Amino acid sequence: MISVVIPTYREAETIEPTLRRAAAALEKAGEAFELLVVDDASGDGTAERAESLQKELPVRVLRRRGKRGLATAVVDGWAIARGEVLGVMDGDLQHPPEVLTQLAETLRQTEADLVVASRYCSDGGSNRWPWWRRIGSAAATHLAATVLPLRLADLTDPMSGMFLVRARALEGVKLEPLGFRTLLEVVGKGKIASSREVSYVFERREQGRSKLGARQCAEYLLHLGRLARSTGQVRDWARYALVGLAGAGVDLAVLVGLVAAHWPVALAAAVAIQLAILSNFFGNRWWTFSRHASGQLGRKLVCYEKVCAPGAGLNWLLTLVLLHAGWPLVGAAGAGIVADGAVNLSLNIPSIWRIWGPRSASKRENHGSSLTAA
Ligand code: GDD
Ligand code: MN
Repeated sequence: MISVVIPTYREAETIEPTLRRAAAALEKAGEAFELLVVDDASGDGTAERAESLQKELPVRVLRRRGKRGLATAVVDGWAIARGEVLGVMDGDLQHPPEVLTQLAETLRQTEADLVVASRYCSDGGSNRWPWWRRIGSAAATHLAATVLPLRLADLTDPMSGMFLVRARALEGVKLEPLGFRTLLEVVGKGKIASSREVSYVFERREQGRSKLGARQCAEYLLHLGRLARSTGQVRDWARYALVGLAGAGVDLAVLVGLVAAHWPVALAAAVAIQLAILSNFFGNRWWTFSRHASGQLGRKLVCYEKVCAPGAGLNWLLTLVLLHAGWPLVGAAGAGIVADGAVNLSLNIPSIWRIWGPRSASKRENHGSSLTAA
């Protein structure tokens, strides 16, 4: 049985069509199911409308007192769920309920523990989202992949609020999500051996209002920080930073040495930067990611060089330009290193971690057509 939780806060206009379409989608997949509406004292009739459907559909309604947040609503719903598969989706029709069919079929046909509806794989997307929400969403997604690169390596849409997970993957796991992002908590703490994705188009909100605000953004940052600690990724981060500092030392020392030996500065800087990259590579290989150490050193090094190339190029160029502008050698090289580090930190962490991270069995799967709300 699949238990799909639908958290609601003031969704009176959309809860009925959501429940009807979700039920149809799960019937189409041939699954036994229950729909659990977890309503936070909406006061607009959302819970009553859901209850009115109980005669026709396998719907249960959990009423909570006060507005206690989306993610905890999901966890509370799962706590009373009877299914061996747990799921969640929004109650405002922004998640087309028809996607449930594909999610359920994918889970049935594979060994995956988790199937996520994603806006960012193949032909997924967001319908008529304003540019600022697109940028915000992309930035939040990249940030999550930067803070939790090992856990999120296989997910294109870790912000997704629509997914199915096998209950056994969460057995004995204490879920304590903060704010909106239940999925982060599930992949951060759950025993997810492999996952799949199904593309979908996030629809425009036609009724009611989004509950995503400044508070939810702050909670998101706190939540990421907490997960980084509990997943041990903070330690990786600290080691990675120390290796980077050592690399900066190598860069400066080699550059100063070679320039003192009368090498042309452009060549000296290139050699110094290259040696620093090697120092970082082996530092990470033997220390930061030693527990994932496996063969294929050559292939890993090639990937690493590619990922580091833009930052290294910028480093080299900036060093020479600043020298030309009359900066002292160490100052110019230091500025180059800082720029290099900033590029890597802001853009490259997910790709660098992926080089070292354990190869998981996950595959991205897309079952042809993207679904949109009918
Ligand atoms: N019970 C309860 N309590 N439900 C809530 C609360 C709450 O405090 N806050 C929001 N909800 C419900 C809404 O009623 C809706 O059904 C769902 O949670 C999503 O809330 P929205 O306010 O519609 O979120 P959004 O559209 O801005 O953001 C969505 O975008 C993400 C991108 O895919 C969320 O739906 C995420 O789930 C999704 O990942
Ligand atoms: Mn919404």
